[in-house]
Formats: sequence, structure tokens, C-alpha cells
Amino acid sequence: MKREQWGSRAGFILAAVGSAIGLGNIWRFPYMAYENGGGAFFIPYLFAMLTAGIPFMIMEFSLGHKLRGAAPRAFSKLGTKFEWLGWFQVFIAAIIAVYYVAIIGWAISYLSYSFTQSWGTDTNGFFFGEYLKLGDNTPSQLGSLQSHIAIPMAIAWAITFAAVFTGVKGGIERASKIMMPLLFIMVLALIARVVFLPGALDGLNYLFQPDFSKIMDAKVWSAAYGQIFFTLSVGFAIMIAYSSYLPEKSDINNNAFMTVLINCGFSITAGVLIFGVLGYMAQEQAKPITEVVSAGVGLAFVTIPAAINLLPAPFILGPLFFLALVVAGLSSHISIIEAVTSAIIDKLKISRKLAASLVCGIGFIVSMAFATNGGLLLLDLVDYFINNVALLASCLVELVVIAWLLKVSDIRNYVNSISEFSIGKWFEICIRFLSPAMLAVILGTNLVNTFNDGYGGYATSDLLILGWGLVAAMFVVAVIINVSSKPQLQQEAKL
Ligand code: PHE
Ligand code: NA
Repeated sequence: MKREQWGSRAGFILAAVGSAIGLGNIWRFPYMAYENGGGAFFIPYLFAMLTAGIPFMIMEFSLGHKLRGAAPRAFSKLGTKFEWLGWFQVFIAAIIAVYYVAIIGWAISYLSYSFTQSWGTDTNGFFFGEYLKLGDNTPSQLGSLQSHIAIPMAIAWAITFAAVFTGVKGGIERASKIMMPLLFIMVLALIARVVFLPGALDGLNYLFQPDFSKIMDAKVWSAAYGQIFFTLSVGFAIMIAYSSYLPEKSDINNNAFMTVLINCGFSITAGVLIFGVLGYMAQEQAKPITEVVSAGVGLAFVTIPAAINLLPAPFILGPLFFLALVVAGLSSHISIIEAVTSAIIDKLKISRKLAASLVCGIGFIVSMAFATNGGLLLLDLVDYFINNVALLASCLVELVVIAWLLKVSDIRNYVNSISEFSIGKWFEICIRFLSPAMLAVILGTNLVNTFNDGYGGYATSDLLILGWGLVAAMFVVAVIINVSSKPQLQQEAKL
């Protein structure tokens, strides 16, 4: 069967950008920048973007394009003993998919609340108490299923399913062509209003004012690298799958630069939007800005609703903000599900329709764990281990496999032969030395810290089972699949 293809270059770029731009850009980037020294965060962030983000994107685009397979097949074509890495990445994608969809579900709920600001004035109490109904649950004692969270999650699944089920060109590409322009227009409209609010510029000052004391702090660099891999969707099977549908004549270098720059430009734009709003809020309440900001999930679902209450025409700006969050999240969710689905199609040789049904069906059921009283805690714990352990490890192993066991100069020659502009020797230096060294240090530090201090005050048993155990299980299952598929692959190679 011939592999599906994107209908146009713009279609591919919009889909790749749709994957990259997600919840991570709108709520994660602003508070990461804020927590890590404001303007000083941009130095590590831009450094990580140039030396790790762009080379990684070029590398993954070239893997997918050249090897024509989702991650497991692409890696097994590099060497049958590397197939497990592809599955490990697919498992990362699958796990992110089941909790990411919960946040999209919350955003859908908040979209409906935003028309009348029915979250009231105590937005903190509303989110954690009335909406999430977080009691004294733990990540392993979830409580009961909350239908008011499950239903919006089902809506998100339905949209993702429709896109992936329909196919690369008719489904994913078409969805991206609608969603991305819509997202850009909404965010520009929001910014156009927000920057003229009183106090908005103080907020921007706060975001961009550099705190150089933080630049020597290893944590800031770790945060910047973690954010770059997450925000670009590299290292977990997605960009390999998407680029496996590129037509033979494709300008890899140009596509990779565009995807990275559009994504990071969007993050900075979102930062301007959020901090503009926070600056206004601080001014309205006559409080210093540090007192109105809350980190993490709280930023989008506690602080922003409180700010929306104070805005002029909240019934327009509120829905615009939450619709932007939903659209950004959905286009990313589609890409994660496609990464898993395409790996299953490659492996089991079943139809897209069947594979998409299986993946979304099982995914939906598993994701219901996050629609419970303790769902937020489970999400927080799993997200921590996926981002700070599994994802960084996956990126590091990928670099080591490619850079040290294969030849990076081959990749460089390959992309340069099909791209309009060529990339220089810096690409090899970044992939072989700089990025693996940075990743090894950051991953090592994370492992030691997590091992010694745990995370978030969760019980040791929860950390062992849902954190370390989960990552270990993903690894073991990936290796088992790899080992058991060797004979079959060797047969294929002989044919
Ligand atoms: N890149 C997305 C973001 O910034 C995150 C993402 C995660 C996308 C997983 C796809 C898969 O939000
Ligand atoms: Na992103």
C-alpha cells in the first residue's frame, strides 16, 4: 500500500506548527519565563532553541522523510536493535495523549463558563473545589468519575478521532488549515485589545526585565531545555510520523526552521498576551504583579478567569481566550494520536480506520482516570515523570544512537541535497556534542534530585508505582516488542 501524503507544503507546515503550538505555548511558556528570571530566561531558551531545537527538528524531519515510517519503523530501519526506542517514544506520546486531553476538556468547560463568567469571583475555590472537586484524594486514590469533566473530554476525543480516522490529507491537514489561521487571528485580536489596557505595559516589563542573577542557575537551563523539547513536540515520535508523509521533493531545512521559529514566536506572543493581562489585573487591584500570578495549571484556570472578570467586554475576550486554548490543544492532541496510530498501522498492517478506532477507544477509556476527583494529582505526577525523566532520556538516547552509532554527516548531506539552503558544520557539532552533553547533565541532575527528594510531596509508593514504575514499564514493554519482532523484520529484509 502506498504511504499517505500531505496535499501541500503549506498543509504540512500548518500541521507541524499545529502540533508544536499547544497548551505548552499558552500557559506553560509564560510562567516558565516568569519563574526563571523573566528576560534572563530568554537567553537559555533561545540558546536551547538554536542548538537543540532546530537541529533536532531537522534530524527528525529527515528521519521520517527518508525512512518513511512512524518512529518504531524508522528506528528499526536504522538498525533492528533500535526499534524499542520508537516504541518508547510512542508510549510517551500515548501517555501524554491521555492526560493532555483532560486539560483540553477543562478548557472546553471554561469556554462555556466564560460567556457569563459563571466561575464567580473566587476562581481558585471554583477551579479546585467546585470544578475539579479535589478532596483529600491522592494520585492512587482517585475518587469517583466526574461526568462534567468526562463529557468535555469526550468532545475533544471525538474531534481528534474524526481528524485521525479520516486520514492525513483529508483529516489532519484539513483540520490544521482551519484551526491554525483561526488561532492566529484570535490571538492577534486578543493582543490588540490587551496591550492598550492600563497597566499592560508594566506586565510586559515584568516579563522581559532580565534577572541576570538566574542565568548561572542550572535549574533555569534545565527548564529551558525541557520546554524546548516539549514545545517543539520532538523526541516523542510525532515529528517523525508527520514527516513520513512528506512528498519526496521537500525542503527539509526550510520546513524545520519555519516550524521552530513560528512556534517560538507564538510562545513569545502568548507571553505578551498573558503578562499584559496580568499587568492590567495588578493595576486594577492595586497589588504588585507577583501577587496576582499563580503558577502551572493555576495560571490558565485560576488567574486568567480572575483577570477576565475585570476586563472590559469579558463575554468576548473570555471566550476568545478559551477557544484559543481549545484549538491550540486539539491540534496538538491530533498529532499525538497520529503518532500512536501511524505506529500501529505500520506494525499490525491494519487499516487507518481500524487503528484510529482502537487507539481512540482505548485512549478514551484510560483518560477517564483523569476525570476523577484525584485526576489533577495523577496528571501532575505523571506529567512530571514524563517530562523530566522519560522525554529527556528519550531525546538523549535518540541523539546517542544517531550521532554516535550512525553518521551525522550523512544526515547533513541528505538534507542539504534536497533543501534550498544548506546547513553547516554547526549542525553536526550540536547533534554530536553540545546537545547530548547538555541533556546528559540535565537528565542526570533530574534523576538524582527526584530520587533524593521525590516530587510534589507525593507518597513514596505513588512515586514508585506511577512515576518510576511507569517509566520502567514503558521501557520493558518497548524492549519486549523489539525482541519479539526481530525474526519478522529480518524476514522482511530478506524479501
Ligand atoms: N508541543 C505541544 C505544546 O507546546 C505539546 C505537545 C505535547 C504536543 C505532546 C504534542 C504532543 O503544548
Ligand atoms: Na509548543
